[in-house]
Amino acid sequence: MKKEFKRTLVTAALPYANGPVHIGHIAGCYLPSDIYCRFLRGKGADVKFICGSDEHGVPITIKAKKENTTPQAVVDKYHKMMGDAFKEFGISFDVYSRTSSKIHAETASAIFRELYDKGIFTEKETEQYYDETAKQFLADRYITGTCPRCSNPNAYGDQCEKCGSSLNATDLIQPKSALSGSTPVLRKTKNWFLPLDQLQPKIKAYISSHKEWKPNVYGQCMSWMESGEGLQPRAMTRDLDWGIPVPVEGANGKVLYVWFDAPIGYISATKELLPDTWEQYWKSDDSRLIHFIGKDNIVFHCIIFPSVLMEHGGFVLPDNVPANEFLNLEGDKISTSRNWAVWLHEYLEDFKGKQDVLRYVLCANAPETKDNDFTWKDFQTRNNSELVAIFGNFVNRALVLTHKFYNGSVPSADIYTKEDLLVLEELAGAPDKIAASIEQFRFREALSELMNVARLGNKYLADTEPWKLIKTDPARVNTIMNVALQICANLALLCEPFLPFTAKKLAGMLNLSALSWNDATKTDNLSAGHTINKEELLFEKIEDAAVETQIAKLKKPEPIAEPTTSKPVKEATTFDEFSKMDIRTATILEAAVVPKTDKLLKLLLDTGVDQRTVVSGIAQYYKPENIIGQKVCLLANLEPRKIKGIESKGMILMAENEKGELCFVSPITTDFSNGSMVK
Ligand code: MF3
Ligand code: ZN
Repeated sequence: MKKEFKRTLVTAALPYANGPVHIGHIAGCYLPSDIYCRFLRGKGADVKFICGSDEHGVPITIKAKKENTTPQAVVDKYHKMMGDAFKEFGISFDVYSRTSSKIHAETASAIFRELYDKGIFTEKETEQYYDETAKQFLADRYITGTCPRCSNPNAYGDQCEKCGSSLNATDLIQPKSALSGSTPVLRKTKNWFLPLDQLQPKIKAYISSHKEWKPNVYGQCMSWMESGEGLQPRAMTRDLDWGIPVPVEGANGKVLYVWFDAPIGYISATKELLPDTWEQYWKSDDSRLIHFIGKDNIVFHCIIFPSVLMEHGGFVLPDNVPANEFLNLEGDKISTSRNWAVWLHEYLEDFKGKQDVLRYVLCANAPETKDNDFTWKDFQTRNNSELVAIFGNFVNRALVLTHKFYNGSVPSADIYTKEDLLVLEELAGAPDKIAASIEQFRFREALSELMNVARLGNKYLADTEPWKLIKTDPARVNTIMNVALQICANLALLCEPFLPFTAKKLAGMLNLSALSWNDATKTDNLSAGHTINKEELLFEKIEDAAVETQIAKLKKPEPIAEPTTSKPVKEATTFDEFSKMDIRTATILEAAVVPKTDKLLKLLLDTGVDQRTVVSGIAQYYKPENIIGQKVCLLANLEPRKIKGIESKGMILMAENEKGELCFVSPITTDFSNGSMVK
């Protein structure tokens, strides 16, 4: 028997706050989850839609390093940017929280502590790479080396991007720390593991009870459990300084694994939204939990998070995890680092007021069962020949004729023909058809059913030709126009989950209010004599130039930096003069703020020939702990000078940016040793 649920909690994967969102994220999980929630709300169901930013994990610390700033500054920036873009795009979260919040740290710590106290975790010592220069353990992403499979010299400790193999840091040949460039050493460290190997039977029973899941999701889970040695224990703590401190004695310098804390973010966000009633959603049997995600998140949502919930006890388990495949762009994988992406915030800038066009295209082409491709040409075609030519055209004709024939007042339907009755029957059946597809997470199919309603209207007008009949049979035209307007009204109700901006505009034009999805089974939502408002265009044609601009933008690499106002070239000098300068490469070994100053750092440099002290005026721009291991160019034969009582032997060369800040000049390669001459 199918279980009856009283409420539904829908979550969309918390996006990492280390960059903006792109169309791949939208098509993968935010749009389908939004359609689902809007649909449920329209039906009057009790539903809450939960999301927020995932603000921990190594990618964020890497981004901070790259941008010469702190992890907190990175997450603050992207949390705001993503939240704003989702809102403008009409993603109707009930809450958009963040995992750096206090309530989240408390919630995640408490759950960890409960598992710890119950003795669920196994404590294990393992050997991890440690950077003796930077004095910290290295996350896999912070180690590079030669790939053992394909000899790519720039493989990462978790993956080789050239041959695609997933690796362990200890597999790398000649590993190097990305922090300092030094060779890391293996050091013992203690961490707490979730014994997925022992939990496997329970997890398997849980997943086996969900044969209704999408085949890709169910299949992936089963194959992890059934292939090789099955599930393996996984560390739930990491040696890292960005994250939630492990709430256990003897865990200094350790934080919760980001994939332990992030899904708990769904719980913390619900608490934030409903401080008094959140437990109803998470802890009662008649609540249904649904996670919308992209396929790379399956293991975390179907296996690891449910294990945590199960072992903790008291929580409902995910009832479904509708994961999508990936969306490609113009035939190529979306890539943030290559800037091969359509960024949501840029789309919203470039196509103001056209949120629904992108929503339509991404839904019509959603990667539901296989990877799919987004192309700008397809975007244009779907807009022009579907939204404009079918949906927009039908509504426009119906409204224009109503104004022309009846001054905007809905005519009455007197006698229906057989044809009319068939059309009305099909109209009344549409909501159930669309609903059945949505309930099975088949959003493309649902959208195409919706478009069939617009097609029905278009065909009805074309077949009945009221513009001709008005002269000979005005009574018949009354009925035709009444039927056409009912189709418009129901379209406004039915398109809301998919095209919320259009729904609002159309309802406004029809002067319709306070109706929702359930009313769309009726075919008399507009009564005779009701006055409609002036029509506006629902969709506009998109010209070639607009999509060509987008394609050109894609092919242009991201500008390296903002344009600077360049200073005039200095007076000519001679090569001989230049040759007198001894400029060479060096590495910063130690750095400290010079006491009683706020601008100066005392640096110890390895110059290849000696180790020497240099005082440098960069303390406003760099924290000492962040520049250990940095390669620099040094003017080595500058006359020594005493600064604040410290003898400074030379000067490091820095670039001054447009804001007047000093930055290190980063080389493309670091294939040189200390003391290499710069000429
Ligand atoms: N930040 C992850 C990603 O972008 C998703 C986290 S989902 C959560 O792939 F459940 F862990 F929050
Ligand atoms: Zn490789």
